[in-house]
Amino acid sequence: RKIMSYTPQFLAWYKQNKRDLPWRETTDPYAIWLSEIILQQTRIDQGLNYYLKFIERFPCVIDFANATEDEVLKMWQGLGYYSRARNMHTTAKTIVSQFQGEFPASYKELMQLKGVGEYTAAAIASIAFNLPHAAVDGNVYRVLSRLFGIDLPIDTGQGKKAFTQLANELIDHQHPGNFNQAVMEFGAIQCTPRNPDCTICPFKQSCQAYLSNTINKLPVKKGK
Ligand code: ADE
Repeated sequence: RKIMSYTPQFLAWYKQNKRDLPWRETTDPYAIWLSEIILQQTRIDQGLNYYLKFIERFPCVIDFANATEDEVLKMWQGLGYYSRARNMHTTAKTIVSQFQGEFPASYKELMQLKGVGEYTAAAIASIAFNLPHAAVDGNVYRVLSRLFGIDLPIDTGQGKKAFTQLANELIDHQHPGNFNQAVMEFGAIQCTPRNPDCTICPFKQSCQAYLSNTINKLPVKKGK
């Protein structure tokens, strides 16, 4: 498939519309890791308070590793999915004992860390290390399914693979971190699940779903 570059439109939209969030002011892999794990099953307004609390108490991964699991779990209280907190503590200790307190700068090594999956590894690799790995979350599935009119179910291995492959073809190699965050933010703010305001969308002339009136049919989920 031959595709034009969507980069300028995504980056311009992002510059104008992104929310100012503290983890967007840094490329510290520790801060990016912390924010991405917190935001995985948590809304931004709630996650923000926890992020600030953790960064204040544990300014670097060494401080995090030196805490007791009890304290980490206590600070995590209210966020749920406590395995996230336990995995983070394990990974903090791994970073100290096996990586001299520095996050590894490759997707492959990041993937070895407990609690770090494809999404989180790509987010850290792109935002902290400028590596061109697409971070594909639910927002990205929705945006790409509509923009390209792809009706592969997003809750199947085949669908996930196809969307991840497409995202990796689209990613801007100059600004991979901003590109990833632009697509996610675009999905969160503009290309919303229900009632998106397509009249103000920068892609209204090229969006396959908008042009064929199928915004409400995409993305497709098999399990429903
Ligand atoms: N959701 C989770 N992490 C995000 C990020 N870095 N940018 C936009 N949306 C996100």
